[in-house]
Amino acid sequence: MADPLHTVLCDRLGCRYPVIQTAMGWVATPALVAASSAAGAFGFLAGAVMRPGELAAAIGALKAATDRPFGVNFHMFQPGAAEIVEILIAEKVRAVSFGRGPDAALIRRLRDAGIVCMPTVGALKHAVKMAELGCDMIVVQGGEGGGHTGAVATTVLLPQVLETVSIPVVAAGGFADGRGLAAALAYGACGIAMGSRFLLTRESPVPDAVKARYLEARPERILVSTKVDGMPQRMVPNAALERIERAGPIGRWLRALDAGLQIRRATGASWGDLITAARGMAGHGDMSFSQALMAASAPTLIQRAVVQGDADGGLMAAGQVAGRIDDLPTCQALVERIVAGARARIEALTAAPAERPNRRSA
Ligand SMILES: Cc1cc2nc3c(=O)[nH]c(=O)nc-3n(C[C@H](O)[C@H](O)[C@H](O)COP(=O)(O)O)c2cc1C
Repeated sequence: MADPLHTVLCDRLGCRYPVIQTAMGWVATPALVAASSAAGAFGFLAGAVMRPGELAAAIGALKAATDRPFGVNFHMFQPGAAEIVEILIAEKVRAVSFGRGPDAALIRRLRDAGIVCMPTVGALKHAVKMAELGCDMIVVQGGEGGGHTGAVATTVLLPQVLETVSIPVVAAGGFADGRGLAAALAYGACGIAMGSRFLLTRESPVPDAVKARYLEARPERILVSTKVDGMPQRMVPNAALERIERAGPIGRWLRALDAGLQIRRATGASWGDLITAARGMAGHGDMSFSQALMAASAPTLIQRAVVQGDADGGLMAAGQVAGRIDDLPTCQALVERIVAGARARIEALTAAPAERPNRRSA
């Protein structure tokens, strides 16, 4: 019998199991991507928060750490995007992920270079658009997913997309274990993509004190806020988020200006770069200047938590699933557990009812 865990995703991405470690700003570093790829998953590097030189160095570090294929996340509105595209093509990365951004011509160019184009979408209409633009696969993220997220739950959005597009679909938003992988395959997806679960691993660079706050969170408390950058974003609640939620327009302006100054100091980006990035991230050109600035500054607040370890002053983007995670395995142990769990669920489904193993086995 064919291996149910060997899917088109394994063939196209060159990984052993149909499991993707998604890009997370400052979290999906070369160390995490190398570890998840070595474990048989497919890792994406968080290129959307890097300048071109930084990305080239990260790709070099990753290639030195692993001979497994990997992907890079980017968007067309980040400073240096055109240069980043050239780097991705020159370095022959296996795949790229993005939200909005590349048009049909660029997607064709990337594909002609042998790069798998697999955007993440959070709504049916975006899935249809990305299929029309010529993408190879789509990652469909339900509303329970971490970071920027949509309004429709994975259990509703995933079948909607599967019924509508004909390219392979990867399920994301709320996955953490073998039970979820088996369920996604049963829906007709070719695999799962996970952010929060890989953030909570031994190789994830997030400081321990911040990981501890993620582990303490409960699913019903990991909520969506639109106050950070005007777009729905799911996060673990903390003092910084409460302050943002309570702030009036002047407070939000001051925060955006302060964070904008920090980005300029750290990256040398001009105010023009920041606004272009912000408008692009929001996907529409009718944002107010202050909202655009808030969008551009939001990543520095996440960086403050996941890099600097400030669990009260920074923001902790997270999927609801973080609320049911209570350990920090290595990527290797995690992937092995997911694979064993998925196999157990698939066997249980095909076994005679009296032989069905204990339900806690996945
Ligand atoms: C801390 C954090 C940072 C993220 N940063 C990015 C990013 O830079 N680019 C991106 O496309 N998605 C980003 N995401 C979304 C994830 O890649 C992924 O789509 C999401 O976490 C999936 O949902 P899950 O957390 O339920 O697995 C981020 C998510 C988290 C939790």
